Amino acid sequence: MSDTTTAPAPPLLIARGLTRTFTLPRRSPFQPGPVRHALVDADLEVAAGESVALIGESGSGKSTLVRLLLALDRATSGTVTFDGRTVAPDRASRLRWLRRQSGIVLQDPYSSLDPRMRVGDTVAEPLRALGVEGDHDRLVAEMLERVGLAAEDAASWPHEFSGGQRQRIALARALVHRPRLLIGDEPMSALDVTVRAQILELLRELRDERGLALLLVSHDIGLVQHLADRVAVLRDGRIVEQGVTDDVLRRPQHPYTRTLVESVPTLD
Ligand SMILES: Nc1ncnc2c1ncn2[C@@H]1O[C@H](COP(=O)(O)OP(=O)(O)O)[C@@H](O)[C@H]1O
Ligand SMILES: [Mg+2]
Repeated sequence: MSDTTTAPAPPLLIARGLTRTFTLPRRSPFQPGPVRHALVDADLEVAAGESVALIGESGSGKSTLVRLLLALDRATSGTVTFDGRTVAPDRASRLRWLRRQSGIVLQDPYSSLDPRMRVGDTVAEPLRALGVEGDHDRLVAEMLERVGLAAEDAASWPHEFSGGQRQRIALARALVHRPRLLIGDEPMSALDVTVRAQILELLRELRDERGLALLLVSHDIGLVQHLADRVAVLRDGRIVEQGVTDDVLRRPQHPYTRTLVESVPTLD
């Protein structure tokens, strides 16, 4: 930070000491509810154009971390900055600036689309909500083609599409406003292998073209190996290991990472 002439740009997204504690319902009127430490003291960075994967078994805190990074939940302590600005849930501004620069895709392609909205309206919604200038119909048509659908699909309804196609629609919606960061919370776990490979290829292209940064929660170690520059391993709410993907997957330092990686049949 001292030499302003040679210092590289700071990471796009920086989390420091992120902690989220939930107080569960009381079991007795005489005692406070038990406390669950969903995330403890997590430090994470994602640079522009970088792909970072979060791995860890179910309940390890991956979704909690993602939600805090996008201000969909409030941290118990710790900070998040995006492009140097503090990220915190804020009803007043509704974080339009953060929504403008980020997109999110969730796991379930069935619940993530509104069944009463035509595909084109669903994909165009961020453009309208964020006041993006330009020809929305054209932007939607281009994005639909980009994710492997047809421009004419804009007139159809979600129920007319398969799970894999719906996930492409969700991806088009997350990318249509040209965010700088895409966060996927297990976005491909419902997809078959071929569709997964196609979406993976698309994400790579967007990274190369636009410098799109990716933060991907995934159970799929093979996918992580192909897409991620760096990996962070979560266990019981703590990041137990993080580093360059090949180092972490091929020479895991933490026994837990070793167990995760060994459960995968082949690493090529
Ligand atoms: N709203 C909540 N209330 C209580 N506990 C929660 C809540 N959200 C998450 N948790 C708990 O926090 C831990 C981490 O959950 P989560 O972040 O969803 O894990 P993952 O996405 O890795 O499966 C789990 O023990 C989960 O039960
Ligand atoms: Mg989760």
